[in-house]
Amino acid sequence: MNGRVIAIDGPAGAGKSTVARAVAERLGWSFLDTGAMYRAVTVIALEAGIDLSSDELLEQVVSDLSISMTDRVVINGRDVTLEIRSPDVNSAVSAVAACSAIRRALVEQQRIFASEQALGTVVEGRDITTVVFPDAEVRIFLTASLEERAKRRGDESAASVAARDSADTSRVDSPLSVGDGVTILDTTNMPLDQVVDEVVACLRK
Ligand code: CDP
Repeated sequence: MNGRVIAIDGPAGAGKSTVARAVAERLGWSFLDTGAMYRAVTVIALEAGIDLSSDELLEQVVSDLSISMTDRVVINGRDVTLEIRSPDVNSAVSAVAACSAIRRALVEQQRIFASEQALGTVVEGRDITTVVFPDAEVRIFLTASLEERAKRRGDESAASVAARDSADTSRVDSPLSVGDGVTILDTTNMPLDQVVDEVVACLRK
């Protein structure tokens, strides 16, 4: 691994993006929202009308994709920053993310992204602490009660959040889990500043 990495995993609505972005800002590091990458591929798969349970068909989608992750999410030259948050994408993304060929392709891009950043990257997702960067210098599992997480999502129903959690934890390839040595941070009643302090403090330990 070249660049320094803070890896953050956790269920939907735990506040990973908000926390990861704030930690990156405080440290002057880059930020990578890997869920946005799975969401972008989902936009393309939904448009192609592909049967999301077919690994072979999903594999074709990923064979010639280019994704650019800056403050915008651009896939094959198209800005999908807003589209990736739609209810259709919320309900389809976990099926797309269960496809191993898609995971392999995106994990490779995530490692390249981190290796190219000048200082370091705060990377958040579901398999970052366990599969993508198991040797990251800080590994955090961010969580909160389901009620709190559904409230934080706002735009997504509690049922949809729970359905994604269930699919993400039960899939065969890279399920969401708490890896060995990963620090669990329950943020249910914690203000953002305090969560950021705790993550940054792990770096200095
Ligand atoms: O923001 P939120 O936590 O609700 O979800 P997200 O981070 O945007 O991720 C959307 C979906 O992508 C998840 O429900 C997972 O199915 C998938 N994902 C994944 O499988 N692996 C990752 N490293 C990141 C996301």
